[in-house]
Order: sequence, then C-alpha cells, then structure tokens
Amino acid sequence: MDESAILRVGDNEYSLPILTGSEGEKALDISNLRKDTGLITYDNGFGNTGSCRSAITFIDGEKGILRYRGYDIDELAEHSSFVETAYLLLYGVLPTSEELRQFSRVLNESSLIHEDMHHFFTGFPRTAHPMGILSTMVASLAAFYPIPDEPTTEEEQYILGSLISQVRTIAAFSYKKSIGDPIVYPSIHCRFVENFMNMMFSSPVKEYRTDPDLLRAVEVFLILHADHEQNCSTSTVRMTGSSLANLYAVVSAGISALWGKRHGGANQAVIEMLQRIHQSGDDGRKFSEQAKSGKGSERLMGFGHRVYKNYDPRATVLKKICHRVLNKDGVSDPLFDIALRLEEAALSEDYFLKRNLYPNVDFYSGLILRAVGIPQDMFTVLFTIGRMPGWLARWREMHLEPGLRIARPRQIYTGENKRNYVPIKDR
Ligand code: SDX
Repeated sequence: MDESAILRVGDNEYSLPILTGSEGEKALDISNLRKDTGLITYDNGFGNTGSCRSAITFIDGEKGILRYRGYDIDELAEHSSFVETAYLLLYGVLPTSEELRQFSRVLNESSLIHEDMHHFFTGFPRTAHPMGILSTMVASLAAFYPIPDEPTTEEEQYILGSLISQVRTIAAFSYKKSIGDPIVYPSIHCRFVENFMNMMFSSPVKEYRTDPDLLRAVEVFLILHADHEQNCSTSTVRMTGSSLANLYAVVSAGISALWGKRHGGANQAVIEMLQRIHQSGDDGRKFSEQAKSGKGSERLMGFGHRVYKNYDPRATVLKKICHRVLNKDGVSDPLFDIALRLEEAALSEDYFLKRNLYPNVDFYSGLILRAVGIPQDMFTVLFTIGRMPGWLARWREMHLEPGLRIARPRQIYTGENKRNYVPIKDR
C-alpha cells in the first residue's frame, strides 16, 4: 500500500505521498503542494530537500556509506581504475574488457584541444588561478566542438569521453604555461593518470619517471572524487543543465561552484590552514580554540560535512594513503603531524563532536597531492578532473529523464510592500 503523510492547515487536511528509494530512504512528495495548499516549503541550504531521483550514487551519512552504482567506494578504491569508475558512473555497469578498451580509445583520441585554443593561455596573467582558467577554457570548448542537438549514442560517448580527457589536458597545459615551461602533449602510450603526470612534470629536457605508488595515490584520489550525490557543484550542473544550456557551459558552471573554499576549494584551504599553524609555531590546539570561538573567518577546513554525520568514508581511505605515501623513503611532512594532532583534538572535543565535525574528503587529500608534487593551487583542479565523470553522468541521467523540467525554486519574499513611485524632486 502506498504510504502518505497528512498535512493539516487550519481546518483542511492534505495527503502527501511518501516516496521510498531503493535503499529504503523516504521522501515527502510535495510536487503538488502549492497547487493544492497555496503553501511552499522553506529549506535554507536545501539540506532537507530532494531535488531529483537518481540511480548513480548512494550516501548514508549516518553510517558513513558511499556507493557508486551499488559498489562500495573502498572496493572501487582498492580494485578499480579511474577510467573504469568513470565508465561505471556514466553507464551504470562495470565495463567488459572490450567496452573498457573502446572507452579508453575515446579518451586517448580526444585528449588534445584545438591548437587555436593554445593562444588563450597566453592571455591569462601568470598569477591567474588555474580554476579560473579551467572554467574559461571548458566554456570555450563550445566554440570549437559544436554539440549536435540529437547526438547518436556513439557521438554522445565521444563528447562525454572528450570532456573527461580534455579537462586533464587543459589542466596540465595551464600549469606549464603558469611556470613558463613548454607544454607537453598527451601520449597515446600512457594510461590516464600517467599521461596527466607526464604532461605536468616531464619536459623536452627532463624525463619524468613516476613512482607506481604515487601514481596509484593520484588514481585513488580521482576515484574517490568522481561523484558525490547532489553536492553543491553537481546541483549546479543539474540546475544549469535543466535550461538545456550548452554542455560545456554547464560543466563550466560546475567548475565555478566547486572552486569555493567551503566545497572543492577546501583541499587547498586545508594546506593553507596547516601552513599558517606551522608557521605560527602552534601545534594546532590554539587554532582549534579559535575555530571553536567562531570569531573571524577561521573554520577548521577539512572538517564537517552536510551529509556525513560521522566519518567521511573517503577520508578513511585517504588517511591510509597519506600514511603510505608520506612514509615512503622517509618522506616526512610537518603538516601531516599537525593534521594528525588537529584530528585528535577535534575527535575528542565536545564542540566538534556535538556538531559532528569529523575529517572530510578534503582533510587528507591535500597532503597526498603535496607529497606527489602537485602545486597547491592545482589541488581543486585535480578535484575537478576527478568529479568530471560524476557531473557528466548526472547530465546524461537528467537528459534521459522523461518530462525533465527547468529547475525554478520559489522564495519567501521579505522586501517592501507595494508603494508608489516618488518623482526625484519630491524625494
Ligand atoms: C566537500 O556536499 C558534498 O558532498 C561536498 C563534497 C563532495 O564530494 O562534493 O563532500 C566535498 O565540499 C567537502 C566539504 C569541504 N569543506 C570544508 O572542509 C570547509 C569546512 N567545512 C564547513 O565549511 C562546513 O562543515 C560545511 C560547509 C562542509 C558544511 O556546512 P553545513 O552543513 O552547512 O554546516 P553549518 O555551516 O550549518 O555549521 C553547523 C555548525 C555551525 O556552528 P553553530 O552555528 O551551530 O554554532 O558547525 C559549525 C558552524 O559554525 N561548523 C564548523 C565547521 N563546519 C561547521 N566550525 C568549525 N569548523 C568547521 N569546519
């Protein structure tokens, strides 16, 4: 029997259907609320609002569960590759070896950008943040790669695969341009992550030899960042995509939303916070007192999450990788020691415990990228490369949705009531 809830408004009662997801989570269907009752709902930050139905990622914030298409994130981190995970998110199944070969071929063949786009890089000042360059360059892809109104299945796979591949190329090219080095083109002989690291760190006069452990650390970083339900940037992609805007413009909007330090920018903000603590000679305790006081803008970056009300399962995986990467060949990082102490303080102090402020995905990720040699202002760019398959899977899912409607929330108006115009001579 279908479940429902009763809403009583004055003398009237309204029945609201209750929807049940495949993991048993429940939702009030308010699709006809305003039409039937004249009321709207109010939900600051949308923490209690489901914006869509989706079959891509399941999160249980209370139990610290994260699954892509039903597969636990720690299994994918252990056994999968980023390209295989991207295929899984896009098409809902783990690929056969032939499907994976075909998808990898698309990523390889589409890894270049139009040569005329290289001129754009010289237009940016050396100090330009790579996230600003990335969102601009991705939007510019629309000028060079027109998307047919009704792409065939093959055309769509090529378009989506190209974006996953080109965003990596644009990221590496923007880094090379920022340090005045010649760009290094992608190679058909390298796997996805190795290609990126090669484009970032090799040069015509210096071969880049990658340590397999460091390559795997970056690969797992990308797998863990590949999707995360209806987070801020993914909701931006859905919102922008619902107007049927150009795909490159939609992804560029997602990149801009991810840039914020409360969201994807947190991995860079965590390292900047740890550096401030290190330079001040504090061991983290004084800083956490400031964060608790809520004075100024200091928050414990890398802590807290809207959904996870205990440990972020991605942080668990990344913490292990941190230990592995930082203990290699005696690589030590004083910031890691501060991070461990900060985590210990936060996990024992009432302020953080009662607000469920546990380490999130960004707390350890920056330390890993730093150990691998990725420059700090490229951390959120790596997050973008990782998140691309998730954004594209949702763009594809929403366009397959029957009856897709433009997203258009309402508001509670708090402005002036009606008043008449006053000519300037009488003001
Ligand atoms: C990501 O949504 C996703 O899925 C995102 C993400 C993904 O994969 O896409 O998981 C990636 O964005 C992870 C989050 C990275 N951001 C940070 O690490 C920045 C620091 N964290 C906070 O800004 C905050 O915790 C958020 C933004 C992550 C969550 O914010 P909420 O859920 O809106 O919580 P809130 O701002 O309402 O805070 C509730 C209380 C407040 O105190 P009180 O008003 O109750 O006294 O907790 C406090 C806040 O001041 N608080 C913090 C804090 N986070 C919240 N206090 C100190 N340090 C913090 N980090």
